[in-house]
Amino acid sequence: MPAIDAAAFLRDLHALRGIGRFRTGVHRPTYSPQDMESRRWLMDRMAECGLDPSIDGVGTVIGRHPGSGPHLLVGSHIETQNEAGWLDGALGVVAGLALARAGLPVDVVAFADEEGHFDVGFLGSRSAIGDLAEADIDAGRNSHDGTPLRDALAAAGLAGLPRLRLDPARYRGFLELHIEQGTRLEGAGHAVGIVTGIVAIWQWRIVIEGQQDHAGGTTMAERRDAGLAAVRLLAAIDREFPRLCGEASTWTTGRIALEPGAPSIIPGRAEILFQFRDVAVPVLERMEAGLRALVRESNRRERCTARLEAVSRATPALCDPGLMRALSTAAEAICPGGWQTLPSGAGHDAQNVARIMPAAMLFVPSIGGVSHHWAEDTREEDLVQGLRVLGRAAEQVLAG
Ligand code: GLV
Ligand code: MN
Ligand code: MN
Repeated sequence: MPAIDAAAFLRDLHALRGIGRFRTGVHRPTYSPQDMESRRWLMDRMAECGLDPSIDGVGTVIGRHPGSGPHLLVGSHIETQNEAGWLDGALGVVAGLALARAGLPVDVVAFADEEGHFDVGFLGSRSAIGDLAEADIDAGRNSHDGTPLRDALAAAGLAGLPRLRLDPARYRGFLELHIEQGTRLEGAGHAVGIVTGIVAIWQWRIVIEGQQDHAGGTTMAERRDAGLAAVRLLAAIDREFPRLCGEASTWTTGRIALEPGAPSIIPGRAEILFQFRDVAVPVLERMEAGLRALVRESNRRERCTARLEAVSRATPALCDPGLMRALSTAAEAICPGGWQTLPSGAGHDAQNVARIMPAAMLFVPSIGGVSHHWAEDTREEDLVQGLRVLGRAAEQVLAG
């Protein structure tokens, strides 16, 4: 294999970091002008690396290798969480470019909206595996401001473009290089992690209706305070879940919005965005049953009404044993004793791609475990080492 150009790889990563820069990180929410600029930037880089670039009807960018197969699919996503890090997603896509530049027969992909700015859940990768109906797009809304997905696609100039459909017969598999977004590798002093499985994220909206009223004139006995009911429900979840969950399950309340949200008004409505994660469907189902029971209990106890709406339920995935073996062999050759296996607590497009072809992931350490924050970072030596392991594994899989 021609040598990997580590300098070009780092140059690309820093160039992409410059689009939508926010402090030391970036702000590229899906379909924002800076996000669309980064997609155009990516298509230009793909063309430079000899790939045929295109963008599809949900914004997924793919660069196809023009030669004969076998091929590998390599990539991740390039939009970011708001005011977040420069590597989450970008690393896997730019690593794909580096492999293409080195002459490997890879297609490079950047799936749209892995970060879930729209409430569809893994919009790009689900669309590409044939798991997204037009009706799902019709129903999609921006989780931050409620903009219909159709309107956002039209404003970004994507309306009417055909949607990418991946052909599994074209590929030996999918490889995604990503930052760990946790502290296990750093804690163990390891430079590389081979991912065993990827959690599923199940997202919920909990809407609590009370009665908006005067904060002074309404006695404590009279009031129906949706904010208090929300806080008590969330505290009950936090007490109950440790009894139902798995060893590595997590649960998070990302937002509580109180209406009307003023100091002297009893909140009449609370909207909670809640999620939990695990790698095992039976555990996820147990957590869902527990959540439903707690909402019923809240409705018995409180003078407010809580309603639970499912926003999205992803599918957990195990990584492909053959691809994991190739990654492990490459890791042992490049950093002997300096790697480990580990599960992914973050969701990734690989979990969807795994439903139609072999898929595997490789992690490099995150400094301090920080991610979904602009301070997210990884040492350049670790980025390059991860790329080398990816390249060597890709070469082996393609030769096999
Ligand atoms: C993906 O970014 C996740 O939140 O796991
Ligand atoms: Mn990511
Ligand atoms: Mn992310």
